[in-house]
Amino acid sequence: MILGIETSCDETAAALVTKDGDIRSNVVSSQAGLHARFGGVVPEVASRRHLELVKPVIEEALDEAEARLDDVDTVAVTQGPGLAGALLVGLSAAKAVAWARRLPLAPVDHLHGHIASLYLRPNVLEPPFLCLLASGGHTLLLDVQEQDGYRVLGTSIDDAAGEAFDKGARVLGLGYPGGAALDRLAREGDPEAFSFPVARVGELDFSFSGVKTALLYAARELGDELESRRADLAASYQRALVRALVERARDAATQSGHGTIAVVGGVAANSELRATLAEARFAPLSLCTDNAAMIASAGRFGRCLPYPRYLDLDAYASRP
Ligand code: KG4
Ligand code: ZN
Repeated sequence: MILGIETSCDETAAALVTKDGDIRSNVVSSQAGLHARFGGVVPEVASRRHLELVKPVIEEALDEAEARLDDVDTVAVTQGPGLAGALLVGLSAAKAVAWARRLPLAPVDHLHGHIASLYLRPNVLEPPFLCLLASGGHTLLLDVQEQDGYRVLGTSIDDAAGEAFDKGARVLGLGYPGGAALDRLAREGDPEAFSFPVARVGELDFSFSGVKTALLYAARELGDELESRRADLAASYQRALVRALVERARDAATQSGHGTIAVVGGVAANSELRATLAEARFAPLSLCTDNAAMIASAGRFGRCLPYPRYLDLDAYASRP
């Protein structure tokens, strides 16, 4: 079995996955509540919380899988990208477990992890496919030919899609992180009520900073009417974001000759995106937002360092 550990942002997560991709346990402890009053993740607060949670979360993952450390053959851990201090907590914990038991350690790229959520049973997707990765930190169009990697075709030049959802949610007073809340509010609104054009940049790139400003101005202009129009604003704003994601994903699939589109990352949980891009394969809802099962899954395919050649391994904050 592979023990996966993920601490790149504000979720402390551990999971046990078999070499064949069966999930034995998948424990996620979200710190979202802790950061909500600051309106975003505070890196130092996140690192300290990871430090408190990482051991109990690993123990819970073992308990749930009815396993012991003796049953673990490999430790897989997120190396980056993410918050450096947060990553270092998971990486240190992984090194400690692997070193103490003389196990190999697989350093996992977080984005590869999101893609590898598609390689878990029971609904395994085999490459090749075009992958839209939309999360709080990234918006990427990826050419996936093999299970051990990916090639970037397009990306956001400013905000990530999840960030656009979160910032929109903030304008509408939905708290942090507001993507899921905006999704729920949008169901009660009219998506054609407002027009929020999304800028087209590059052929396969995204830009979400302008549409967020458009929402802010529309909300301001409404003044006292804002409260009664929040659902309409949410629905129209979501429609604009989803339309941009769907258009580019289809363009990328056509250009790269891929017959299959897959969608992963936190924004893959969005109900309108799932309904609009109906032909695509979406990661299971439970594996869209950050988790360690996807990290363990990626650990089956990527680089794996033998004991003890991982002790000097460092975390990286941004995509190399
Ligand atoms: O993948 P993830 O957990 O973290 C990163 O790697 O960044 O993604 C979190 C993001 C947040 O921005 C959150 O608001 C967004 O995914 N999200 C959603 C939904 N559920 C989560 N956005 C839109 N609709 C949703 N239902
Ligand atoms: Zn993520």
